[in-house]
Amino acid sequence: MLPGWAFALLGLVVLVTGHRFAVAGMPVTTKLMDPHMEITLRRLPQPGDAERADAIVADARRLVAQYANVADAERDGYTKFLPNIELPQEHFTKAGFAREAWFGTFDSTHPTSLIYDRDASGLHIVGVMYTASNLATEAELDRRVPMSIGTWHRHVNFCWAPASVPMRDAYFGAHPKFGFDGSISTRAACDAENGSFSPIEFGWMIHVWPNAPTQAAIWSIHGDDEQHDMVGEHMHHHDGESVVATASAVLPIPLDHLPSATIASGDPNHGARVFAQNCASCHGASGRAGPDAPQLAGQGLAAGQVAFMVRNPGTIDVSSDMPHLAISDGDLADVAAYVSQLK
Ligand code: HEC
Repeated sequence: MLPGWAFALLGLVVLVTGHRFAVAGMPVTTKLMDPHMEITLRRLPQPGDAERADAIVADARRLVAQYANVADAERDGYTKFLPNIELPQEHFTKAGFAREAWFGTFDSTHPTSLIYDRDASGLHIVGVMYTASNLATEAELDRRVPMSIGTWHRHVNFCWAPASVPMRDAYFGAHPKFGFDGSISTRAACDAENGSFSPIEFGWMIHVWPNAPTQAAIWSIHGDDEQHDMVGEHMHHHDGESVVATASAVLPIPLDHLPSATIASGDPNHGARVFAQNCASCHGASGRAGPDAPQLAGQGLAAGQVAFMVRNPGTIDVSSDMPHLAISDGDLADVAAYVSQLK
């Protein structure tokens, strides 16, 4: 039995539409942040993005003030997701707003969920969640929340537990097998446990933590600055069966999503030395993939793209583990020239 009718409703809609989306193509460019979490890549800022984001945060801040008391939320039709189990963080969801977000237009005064943290003294509102259909295009997601600032996420490779397993053990124990953090992330493993596998569960979601101290924290996925990453597992395509993570070979940030910086033309011979000193520890000798970073050789990276990444790591992929490196403009031009001609 599916837990909670709102859960069931959303799940059903996804079952119907999510597969069509996956098969029909035009997937949003994303990255698999962990086996169960797919996130959108950032875009470069466009005029008006900051103002649009600020307006959403202002609405979220008003909502958080209005619904500080959970009884007020319940009176206005928000019901607790998974009513029979107490979680450290609770989502109170309004079905009408969930439907509107799925089928209709975006309204930042109509969050799908209000998010409360639980402690000994009760529930404290910390944020709101907006949602969108799995059918949404990247342009539509960006229209709703500017993707230069917000990161949409959705839950993937989701194994529903058989009804015989108590929900807390199944999904929320110390080492759950099922659900959002489950050890199971493939259809075969799910089938073996008599579970029910869903390549994409629910829809696109984005959290806003309006009273967090920094812009990054306000728009972070989990309400903190930390973006967890598992390097080497990069999302590339949906095969309709499971969301697939593949290692190396393909770049985590596709070429057409990696902007170019303007740089002088450099000396690749000197660039080889800069690379050995600054990059090879992660990307491997001659950029042939290291333990901690993708292969750069033979990928068709333009020098300007290499320069952009070195100067702006984490701008396109917020979960990136590429650090800021202190490199002079001259060395940067040289290393960019070197990487761009690696075969
Ligand atoms: C500490 C490890 C580390 C070091 C040092 C490092 N990188 Fe990276 N780099 C990464 C990781 C991890 C990624 C993948 C980023 C992601 O997933 O968004 C990456 C991504 C890149 C990309 C983008 C690839 C893509 O996905 O399109 C380029 C270009 C790049 N690095 C160049 C360099 C250059 C040039 C240097 C040296 C000046 C360097 N890196 C040093 C870890 C490193």
